[in-house]
Amino acid sequence: MFDEEFAGLEAGDSQLIASTKTEYDAEENVLRPKTMADYVGQQKVKDNLSVYITAARARGDALDHVLLYGPPGLGKTTLAHIIAAEMGVSIKLTSGPAIERSGDLAAILTNLNEGDVLFIDEIHRLNRSVEEILYSAMEDYVLDIIVGKGPSARNIRFPLKKFTLIGATTRAGMLAAPLRDRFGIINRLEMYSAEELTQIVNRSATALGIAMQPDAAAEIARRSRGTPRIANRLLKRVRDFSLVKGSDEVSRTDARFALERLEIDELGLDGTDRSLLSALIEKFGGGPAGLETLAATTGEDANTIEDVYEPYLLQLGFIARTPRGRICLKDGYKHMGMKPSVKAQRQMSLFEDEND
Ligand SMILES: Nc1ncnc2c1ncn2[C@@H]1O[C@H](COP(=O)(O)OP(=O)(O)OP(=O)(O)O)[C@@H](O)[C@H]1O
Ligand SMILES: [Mg+2]
Repeated sequence: MFDEEFAGLEAGDSQLIASTKTEYDAEENVLRPKTMADYVGQQKVKDNLSVYITAARARGDALDHVLLYGPPGLGKTTLAHIIAAEMGVSIKLTSGPAIERSGDLAAILTNLNEGDVLFIDEIHRLNRSVEEILYSAMEDYVLDIIVGKGPSARNIRFPLKKFTLIGATTRAGMLAAPLRDRFGIINRLEMYSAEELTQIVNRSATALGIAMQPDAAAEIARRSRGTPRIANRLLKRVRDFSLVKGSDEVSRTDARFALERLEIDELGLDGTDRSLLSALIEKFGGGPAGLETLAATTGEDANTIEDVYEPYLLQLGFIARTPRGRICLKDGYKHMGMKPSVKAQRQMSLFEDEND
């Protein structure tokens, strides 16, 4: 009977893992930590930022420019809001692809007040001419603009208020060196431990008014791929299953049932992860296989594989990146219940030797 009730719910809803953007609903706002103290984990990053914030405030100065990088859903946007709040300034939000012309950026910059935070999400996707405007803006707080064309072209400088740029990216490697070098504070966000995610799930459950047994929170956390956004999504779906079942408290059994229905396995891998691993093993003899080849074989987008799926598979030590392509490692085979061939074993030991 339970099964019939969920007949309409699509199993293995890949949106759970792959969609990178936050749903801007009321619940999302409730879930977002508002202060450093509420922001779970990332201790080193928080400690350092707190020092820089305290020092900047003591000097009565704007905070230096901050670059936050790491896989999607780890809390870059959330942290940017917290930094602005702790500095006591306002934050303007935009993103690399949203700024099409240098004039758009010039308009944003001239509207900033002293000390304000400008948050540019996906900063690696700024186009070249826009990016160049940022160089002098970040370094000297001036806008260098060329007006006119040909022999009559003139360079005009506008002074800007001293602002803080916070850039977020999933791909630090794609930033041009001159841009990267202009950030005084560079922080990499790490995947969260199961304990930290349990804390996040419990915090979110309280915020959403969901009664939950402690081992249910741990079960969700364990399958959240080190990512708070996924932990929150899974929590909401588990709540739905549990609610329809008529439980007054989410139990571990409820959580397990829901996660199974969503085809999310013990380690948090979904259908796409498994098809990536099985393609690598069965079609390419364990690799090496190039990213584009894997994308074509599995029908996934190469960028999505690189940004969303790979970081966790790499973290688990299921796959490795070699100069010749991706290879599947021993634990990856084990998880898929398969045995590496002699040739695949040779690839693995080659990789291990190179990385000793
Ligand atoms: N440290 C944390 N503690 C508690 N909750 C967190 C934490 N970090 C993130 N979250 C939750 O996870 C959600 C996703 O975080 P956020 O939107 O900041 O990620 P992001 O790194 O900006 O992702 P993207 O790269 O896709 O933009 C937030 O809405 C928030 O509820
Ligand atoms: Mg974000």
